[in-house]
Amino acid sequence: MHTEHTPARRPRLTVIGTGYLGATHAICMATLGFEVLGVDVSEEKIDALANGRVPFFEPGLPEKLRDALDSGLLRFTTSFDEAAAFGDVHFVCVGTPQKAGSAAADMQYVESAFSELARRIDRPALIVGKSTVPIGTAARMAELVARLSPAGSAVEVAWNPEFLREGFAVEDTLHPDRLVFGVSSATAEASLREVFAPILAVGTPLVVADTATAELVKAAANSFLATKISYINAMAEICETTGADVTLLAEALGYDDRIGSRFLKPGLGFGGGCLPKDIRAFRYRAEELGVGQAVAFLDEVDQINLRRRSRTVDLVRELAGGSLDGVRVAALGAAFKPNSDDVRDAPALDVARMLYLEGASVAVYDPEASANAHRVYPDLDYADILGDALNGADVVVLLTEWDEFREMSPVSAAALVTHRRMVDGRHALDAAAYRAAGWEYRALGRPSVPTAVPSYQPAG
Ligand code: UGA
Repeated sequence: MHTEHTPARRPRLTVIGTGYLGATHAICMATLGFEVLGVDVSEEKIDALANGRVPFFEPGLPEKLRDALDSGLLRFTTSFDEAAAFGDVHFVCVGTPQKAGSAAADMQYVESAFSELARRIDRPALIVGKSTVPIGTAARMAELVARLSPAGSAVEVAWNPEFLREGFAVEDTLHPDRLVFGVSSATAEASLREVFAPILAVGTPLVVADTATAELVKAAANSFLATKISYINAMAEICETTGADVTLLAEALGYDDRIGSRFLKPGLGFGGGCLPKDIRAFRYRAEELGVGQAVAFLDEVDQINLRRRSRTVDLVRELAGGSLDGVRVAALGAAFKPNSDDVRDAPALDVARMLYLEGASVAVYDPEASANAHRVYPDLDYADILGDALNGADVVVLLTEWDEFREMSPVSAAALVTHRRMVDGRHALDAAAYRAAGWEYRALGRPSVPTAVPSYQPAG
């Protein structure tokens, strides 16, 4: 149905970089009815996507990809010429990993995406950065684009940070908590409003800001989330020396609406391709800008988080009787969180590696991430099924809270292992059920022997 406000033709979109963020964005925008061209330098990724295969594990995305391809609205290419000719609005979704040997973000992919596009665009267009970047990047890219593009300042730059979580990528893209537009002109804002019209139409909150604020929103959001996790894990350290129980503490804190229970789950801490590198890059950038002190606490957040990994190794060693040499460990989980096959900065894999380096023989089992984990750490043994990892284990350590591990029966698992010793790195298991089945159960921030609380008898 066309109203008088409906433009004759919806803007055509390109999405540069078809990794996690880009592939999801391209697919979802096509399902919203936009013509979308996905672009990547990797032939392999483009071939997979064009043939209906999502090259990473993300629930719900393969179905959406097939719908989008069937509709004819979504195509993929490796050609920047094609992208520049096709798009009215270009989304840059390339990675900004941590630079080798530095805390800074590696900006080479962002710079290359903007330059490759800019030098080919010869008509008015908008290039929208979605990648997580150091503050000031949008302004720098705007200068670069104005210098390189044959259309000069008719090619504008905006920033639209993305807050999607792996495992919930489709839901978070189509029904985000909020949208943030970082713009330098009313035209740029109008273009973004047009592109996000279907999402705005259902009442999604929108914050329109300058580009520096938009960049900062992302860095600040991820820093806050990381801080919240490290806060409760710092409390776990206190619990460990006081005999208090961090899971009860987290529950009690979470009932306070001002604190809230989300991201207050203690355990092995955060990992993945975002939180760890984002807090480091933010800290680094703040230092460059002369305001390093304002976010110096992020160093502590990082340190608390990394200490959880070595403390988990300590617990396994303790249960094994003081040495890991020759001890058979079943490591349950390799992904940085459940429902993902991502092992970037994965606490699970890091713990498995540390156990191995101390002489343990480690059998890793992960329902989805074993292939990726094997590529990173080929020295560990990878089991195809859970039972194979448990078989003959002296200690079992749960590192990623997949449902398969939560649902495992402590009685059946007991029949496979050599010693019933469980380190629950994610507070995912029923401690009482494990103890009842004869397991020695240990978890970070919880007493090794459950504290006897006098049992309460209701009157009458
Ligand atoms: C995170 C943010 O949640 C997204 O909003 C953001 O868009 C994304 O980074 C990004 O920057 O692209 P993601 O990395 O997918 O998303 O994972 P999260 O669900 O945030 O989990 C991060 C880590 O924190 C995981 O290792 C998880 O196990 C850990 N975590 C999470 C805890 O240890 N405790 C908690 O209470 C919550």
